Amino acid sequence: MVVGSRFLMSRTFSLAAAPPTATITTTTTTTTLQEIASNHPKGIAKVVLKKGKTQLFRDGSPMVYSGAVDRIIGRPPPITGDAVLVADGTEKPIGWGLYNSVSMFCVRLMQLEDEATRDPSCALNVERLLENRINAAVTLREQLGLPSAKTNAFRLVNSEGDRLSGLIVDIFGDEAVVASSAAWVEKYKQQIRVCISKINNINHITWRPSLEILKEEGLDLSDSGNHVDLSNSPRMIKVVENGIAYLISMEGQKTGFYADQRENRKYISTISAGKKVLDICCYTGGFALNAAHGGAISVTGVDSSSPALDIAKENIILNNLDSTTISFKRQDATAFMKTAIHNGESWDIVILDPPKLAPRKKVLQNASGMYRNLNSLAMQITRRGGLLMTCSCSGAVTQSGKFLSILQGAASMAGRKITVIRQAGAACDHPIDPSYPEGAYLSNFLLRVL
Ligand SMILES: C[S@@+](CC[C@H](N)C(=O)[O-])C[C@H]1O[C@@H](n2cnc3c(N)ncnc32)[C@H](O)[C@@H]1O
Repeated sequence: MVVGSRFLMSRTFSLAAAPPTATITTTTTTTTLQEIASNHPKGIAKVVLKKGKTQLFRDGSPMVYSGAVDRIIGRPPPITGDAVLVADGTEKPIGWGLYNSVSMFCVRLMQLEDEATRDPSCALNVERLLENRINAAVTLREQLGLPSAKTNAFRLVNSEGDRLSGLIVDIFGDEAVVASSAAWVEKYKQQIRVCISKINNINHITWRPSLEILKEEGLDLSDSGNHVDLSNSPRMIKVVENGIAYLISMEGQKTGFYADQRENRKYISTISAGKKVLDICCYTGGFALNAAHGGAISVTGVDSSSPALDIAKENIILNNLDSTTISFKRQDATAFMKTAIHNGESWDIVILDPPKLAPRKKVLQNASGMYRNLNSLAMQITRRGGLLMTCSCSGAVTQSGKFLSILQGAASMAGRKITVIRQAGAACDHPIDPSYPEGAYLSNFLLRVL
């Protein structure tokens, strides 16, 4: 620890079980962020916030937007990925974070002043912080019973929810898949790999940079060849989730698997016995396989992606399911539903889990229309009195709070009446920091459709 002009604090603890005279006095030393920065061998720049712009970040919001910054003090000026102090208008540090010279978010706050004072070992030390936060993420998942004999596919690090903004790590058996969406994550790639490789039972790491988001971070990796860095990882791996086996392609969508819907998929298995089930936008068959596992009499999965459906079909065999009960079809969701309406077909349970239709707030209105149309079709092919599980993974839709009114609009359009039976989001291994509500992206509504 760096020694600066420290001040001492005394704390007295009284022990209930001890004799009345027995008190223990401990002495703790606190070191401020400013002192640690002053003694740092590299010299730490200070990002000074505008007056009146501090409270949001004191309250824990991790993304310091450039509009909140008054000036940057320090020579040489910081470069992307550098640790910097973030200070209020009087230049008193409120925390530290990682700088980006290009992004509209110029600092991702990593630790607030009081946390850094309590545990100075991580202050302005990215390697220690990474180790600390990744260990905390492992401990939290253990508390949640992950992994288990029935589930070894789950999210280990959920960006802001695990206080590592821009870093996502999914675990699939002995494989860790890293999705990086921040320049600092790319800068500390080696250190992150080292931390992850120390986790028990992890033997492989696949690195998947989010190219478009990284461009906004000032990092263009599009010319650097194969973007999925498999290193020594196998291309296909087998996992188990809620007791159902899946193949995952390391080159599949997102990290290869949508771990966020685990609890919602499990729910479908509990209500499917004896039912006719349709899974629209099924990817590798998550909901469909759960419905079949739960005793559905007939299950159809529809998706437009051939590679996803090839895996879905292999998943039928992997789970010894009866291929006369469950099948997958490659077709556009809208075209499939229109044909079904035309043919007068309906299902007891319909699941609709389309891709992210509103990637940004700007396109929310357009996307709302798309969600309304898709849901209107889905309602028309749900048997009267049947159930529709409908999802939106667009953060802009979820945070607008308008999904339910979009669904109401869809019901009016379809000439149907809906009631909400169940409301959920992503599974518990996707923690959300209330200071960063943008982390809540998934909406999952179970509707009764009359
Ligand atoms: C959010 S994922 C679904 C995840 C899936 N429910 C699961 O549990 O794994 C969205 C899926 O929609 C599919 N998709 C995208 N556009 C489509 C379209 N026009 N018609 C049908 N499927 C589509 C994608 O291939 C992807 O598999």
